[in-house]
Amino acid sequence: MCGIVGYVGPGDTLEVLTSGLKRLEYRGYDSAGVAVLDDYGEMHVRKRSGKLARLVELLDDQPIAATGTGIGHTRWATHGGPTDVNAHPHLGDDGKLALIHNGIVENFAELKAEIDAAGIELVSETDTEVVAALLGLEVSRTGDLETAFRAVVKRLHGTFTLLAMHRDDPARVYAARHSSPLVVGLGDGENFLGSDVAAFVGYTRRAVAVEEDNIAIITPDSVRIIDFDGAPVSFEEYEVAWNTDAADKGGWDSFMAKEISEQPDAVANTVRGRVVDGHIEIDELTALGDAPLQAIDRIIIVACGTASYAGQIGAYAIEQWARVPVSVELSHEFRYREPVLTDRTMVISVSQSGETMDTMMAVKYAKERGVTTVSVCNTQSASIPRESDAAVYTHAGPEVAVASTKAFTAQITALYLIGLHLGRVRGTLTEADEAAAILAFESLPGHVAEAVATHEQIAQLAHWMADTRSVLFLGRHVGYPTALEGALKLKEIAYIHAEGFAAGELKHGPIALIDHGQPVFVLVPSPRQSPVMHSKVESKIQEMRARGARVIAIVENGDTLVLPFADDVIRLPLVDSIFEPIVQVVPLQWFALELATAKGLDVDQPRNLAKSVTVE
Ligand code: G6P
Repeated sequence: MCGIVGYVGPGDTLEVLTSGLKRLEYRGYDSAGVAVLDDYGEMHVRKRSGKLARLVELLDDQPIAATGTGIGHTRWATHGGPTDVNAHPHLGDDGKLALIHNGIVENFAELKAEIDAAGIELVSETDTEVVAALLGLEVSRTGDLETAFRAVVKRLHGTFTLLAMHRDDPARVYAARHSSPLVVGLGDGENFLGSDVAAFVGYTRRAVAVEEDNIAIITPDSVRIIDFDGAPVSFEEYEVAWNTDAADKGGWDSFMAKEISEQPDAVANTVRGRVVDGHIEIDELTALGDAPLQAIDRIIIVACGTASYAGQIGAYAIEQWARVPVSVELSHEFRYREPVLTDRTMVISVSQSGETMDTMMAVKYAKERGVTTVSVCNTQSASIPRESDAAVYTHAGPEVAVASTKAFTAQITALYLIGLHLGRVRGTLTEADEAAAILAFESLPGHVAEAVATHEQIAQLAHWMADTRSVLFLGRHVGYPTALEGALKLKEIAYIHAEGFAAGELKHGPIALIDHGQPVFVLVPSPRQSPVMHSKVESKIQEMRARGARVIAIVENGDTLVLPFADDVIRLPLVDSIFEPIVQVVPLQWFALELATAKGLDVDQPRNLAKSVTVE
């Protein structure tokens, strides 16, 4: 993964780099480092293992009088452990050039043999230092960084975004991308590079997405993009919709808390503009034309992590409204098993970042086989939506906490809108169902706000349960993937063993886990709308209670039937059954956050994880 930032201009280079890295820290926080030139044109590197705060301390202790060119990196370790020496930037050409990298160089062993043969001693265990050394060799051979940079990137296998700067070419930063993200920020007399726009959104909202296998060369007054052979590439700028306020904590203790509380807006903004004259209309799907949407006979949703659970929930709704079979697959499982794909298949990818490598490869695989690809994504102009035939953006705003929350509810919302659009175009959606869904969408933000208001009750519960070592989650129908998501949240940020089950599966094995005091969250379906499912879940509660479980029931307001059997009851507003996950997941998100907080953990940056996983 890793976050990269580059700058050329008259501004405070270290401030630009460190503020950019702060906003990119969600991409990895095993180490951070910067390289800058001083007033005499000397290269300086400061880098340290651990979070960015440790680098900032180092910069305070060992200040640099930096001029206008610099690069910065925040790392999620792949090659080599998270140590000071493995931190980026790495040096080449006798310390005259500095290089940072996001990705993995797969042919690193072969390239390293070349470096060893040239008698260059490497100090780190990283693949990146090998590339820095190789670039150094090329620069001494060609005498020109641009030619050398092109020659080196062509030799690399794997994935990379690389940023390089050289003492002898002081007002330029070179950047190349191959299957890893790269955007340029256009300033006034200054220019920026970043893994995503968060790197520079505090300085400019004008951006250019760099395409696959291109090189960007920035100076204070110019941006040039070429391909790996040196041919010029034209580009278009776009305006970034997010601002810095959206990417700050806004008074909350953590980004995750802020993002949980933003879910009413995330849902409302995702629906906005997509109800036209009493019909659901997604412009991006309309642009594909109705005929291909009518022809599809199968949908496969591909995603990873939280996004895959949103996909599982979306599948229920799409089948219900569009009457087309939907399967959901983890992106990394999808392409290696030769799935049956035809020109009547649609692949819908779901990804908050739009950069998850597994999902990106799944989309490419589908596209190569002539399949219609639709991306549900939260990040404007990210790689996956650009690779897809249509991009249906969720408008949740920037999500910074590693554990996904508001993107999840926005993804479900977007998938429901897709199901409704397809249902209308395919003639399978009744007017009454469409009208009911539109009504439900109107009241949903208010209901999500009520779910957000369970915070205090959940905080108390989590406080009492701070020593819990294992938690189970049970749900049925759309409640099942919601239970899986509740368990994932707890694993991710509280490091607690947690599992989600389909309620009906309990008797086939998991009930053996129930012991005295075992906490089980049960997502109880509405007794008004789904009396049969409600009574089945109620009997599961009784069975678990009889075996000593501590049952925490999440019920709709007014459901008194489970009260006698539940130890704790969390009440949520009444919503249509299919919309239940969007409110039911909220207390589960708070629970994970509060339990992690009670254990003294960093909820925004959990150990070993990164938000955007750009390696396979
Ligand atoms: C990582 C994150 C998860 C996220 C998953 C998919 O594993 O830690 O929180 O759900 O990637 O990310 P995406 O950006 O594709 O939604």
